[in-house]
Amino acid sequence: MADPFLHVEAADVYYGASQILFGIDLAVEQGQTMALLGRNGAGKSTTFKMIAGLAPPRRGKVALAGQGLAGRPSYRIARAGIGYVPENRQVFPDHTVDDNLIVAAKKGPRGDHHWNRGRIYEVFPILASMKDRLAGRLSGGEQQMLTIARTLMGNPDVLLLDEPSEGLAPIIVQAIGELIKTLRGMGVTILLAEQNMHFCLGIATHATVIDKGQIVYRATIDELRHNEDIKQRYLAV
Ligand SMILES: Nc1ncnc2c1ncn2[C@@H]1O[C@H](COP(=O)(O)OP(=O)(O)OP(=O)(O)O)[C@@H](O)[C@H]1O
Ligand SMILES: [Mg+2]
Repeated sequence: MADPFLHVEAADVYYGASQILFGIDLAVEQGQTMALLGRNGAGKSTTFKMIAGLAPPRRGKVALAGQGLAGRPSYRIARAGIGYVPENRQVFPDHTVDDNLIVAAKKGPRGDHHWNRGRIYEVFPILASMKDRLAGRLSGGEQQMLTIARTLMGNPDVLLLDEPSEGLAPIIVQAIGELIKTLRGMGVTILLAEQNMHFCLGIATHATVIDKGQIVYRATIDELRHNEDIKQRYLAV
């Protein structure tokens, strides 16, 4: 059987002397929307930083489409197809929405250029209506959408979204959820870190649960939905 598309194997990550991740195994296939669920401090962001090359694993492997990524500098990992959207929204505040997209434009790892401004504005109509506005003037939710849009402009193979709903009003959270569903419908491969299981239930196809730096459960989202024990133990809200 072929290796999973995005494959993390037995990865350990340390911050200084303290070990944060313990033997992480994670597999995401093309077209899946995988939720990485876990409580505050469980290790979701660290897992993303490991994949993106900001917190390289001391042991273990990270591979995308069979190509090893662990140990490479983060800009090369991005070029290899990892589209990482970190927790803190990063836009160029003094530039327009349109310019933010223009500077992020890049071909994908195999020269693909599926994502361009035209397609972005189709999928994110709210950004189209504000294309000449300074990004620093956008609301938190609009900046979150722009951050996702900027990352898509790099034509990644996998989109890593770290708690995109965090700190946003419920109506905006719903809009972000709809957006992620649209991307899923377009076949985008997504790894989504969330504390909020309810947000993921209607969005993700699969779920992996992390607790205290270890993977404790993996299943389809429907299996998770019906597993009261796992929800109680690791995701109780
Ligand atoms: N730079 C750092 N140095 C030392 N320890 C850190 C650092 N960043 C995170 N940690 C610790 O690593 C553990 C995992 O943190 P991480 O940010 O990956 O969790 P998380 O699942 O993303 O949590 P949250 O839901 O709050 O975003 C926590 O115990 C945290 O205190
Ligand atoms: Mg986090």
